[in-house]
Amino acid sequence: MWHKVKRIVIIFLAVNCASAEDTEAEKLFRELEVVPDILDEPPKELLKIEYDGGLVVGRGEEFTPTQTKDEPKVDWTAEPDAFYTIIMTNPDIPTRQNPATREWLHWLVVNIPGTDLAKGYVLDPYIGPLNPKESGLVRNVFVVFKQLGKQEFDEPILNNTNVAGHERFSSKGFAKKYDMELVAGNIFTSRWDEYVTLLHKQFGIIK
Ligand SMILES: *[C@@H]1O[C@H](CO)[C@@H](O)[C@H](O)[C@H]1NC(C)=O
Repeated sequence: MWHKVKRIVIIFLAVNCASAEDTEAEKLFRELEVVPDILDEPPKELLKIEYDGGLVVGRGEEFTPTQTKDEPKVDWTAEPDAFYTIIMTNPDIPTRQNPATREWLHWLVVNIPGTDLAKGYVLDPYIGPLNPKESGLVRNVFVVFKQLGKQEFDEPILNNTNVAGHERFSSKGFAKKYDMELVAGNIFTSRWDEYVTLLHKQFGIIK
């Protein structure tokens, strides 16, 4: 009888420990130091991200700017009546070691009903990684926040021909300003390739 009780206690403890463990997304955000670099807490859910050609983002691996130049498909667990915000941001500008102008905003869509991205309001259209060669390996961070509801956003609308407004963005600050809750995220890393030259021309950074 006593043995049985002891076994039940041990099983109970083991189950409890497992549920207290970090999720994959939480581990990833801590391992790649996105927490604490730009976020205080990691998301629980790993955001599904797929680029053209069936390229699936997961767990921080490296992709090229060419592979990730077009807006990806994204998916997360959404409540049907809730509204969401998605952000892609680069904390490593100009480099991870010296992120003097952290963060660089790559994508910002608000008021997304459920996961219907096409029905969201675009404050900053998607642009892929564009760090210069000297940056080395950088992190590209996606985060999805649940909004309080459909909200008014008093923000400038950015575009991909002018760098104005992209630099010195704060994901944490943005989420705080609108009282949003982090629900999902993912990360890939990248370094310069030839495609970046084209983007720099598009932004008028080089002629
Ligand atoms: C792009 O944004 C800049 C800075 O806000 C603005 O001056 C410019 O008119 C915009 N261009 C287009 C095509 O919207």
